[in-house]
Amino acid sequence: MSRAVRVRSPRELRAERRRRGHRCWDHLLAAPLWPLHGANLGTLLRTCDAVGACIAVPRFSWVPEALARGNTLRRPACVHWTGDPLGWLAARRADGDRILGVELAEGAVRLADLPMARSRTVMVLGHEQTGIPPEALDLLDQVVEIPMIGTGASLNVAVAGSLVLYKLAGMS
Ligand SMILES: C[S@@+](CC[C@H](N)C(=O)[O-])C[C@H]1O[C@@H](n2cnc3c(N)ncnc32)[C@H](O)[C@@H]1O
Repeated sequence: MSRAVRVRSPRELRAERRRRGHRCWDHLLAAPLWPLHGANLGTLLRTCDAVGACIAVPRFSWVPEALARGNTLRRPACVHWTGDPLGWLAARRADGDRILGVELAEGAVRLADLPMARSRTVMVLGHEQTGIPPEALDLLDQVVEIPMIGTGASLNVAVAGSLVLYKLAGMS
């Protein structure tokens, strides 16, 4: 590499970032609606903060604590509590939101072909072991798949969600 690279210091990075957490923009929501591992929620929360998205999660007994533990941000990101995931999804759809599933599915658009979100979008992530449940598939307007060429069957759910969030936010 001919160009000198200098890593930016924590102080420089802090100066570039917002002083306050962004308010709820409600235009892009990451929805891990069937969460299993708390660590993935913390990872997604950081990506939501980075791209200006909200996170939508059911208030399972362990979820508030998992989010608090995973929140290493200076200011907490915006959390929407969903209650029953299917009922919440149906209500958001009835309100006119675009419901985008992130899943390995037939008929899915490839990540490279996914345009940035131009209307309010809910990005639905599946259960870590069983994916998006069949009864939720009917509520999806579109599905996006991240192509893979390795031996693994799927990506970690927080990694998959983060890649799609960057695309939807128009930041990649
Ligand atoms: C570990 S995967 C579940 C695997 C799989 N659907 C199943 O039933 O075995 C958990 C979630 O991560 C997301 N995911 C993982 N890899 C993905 C990929 N390559 N493309 C799209 N979504 C992916 C999906 O939301 C999926 O439901």
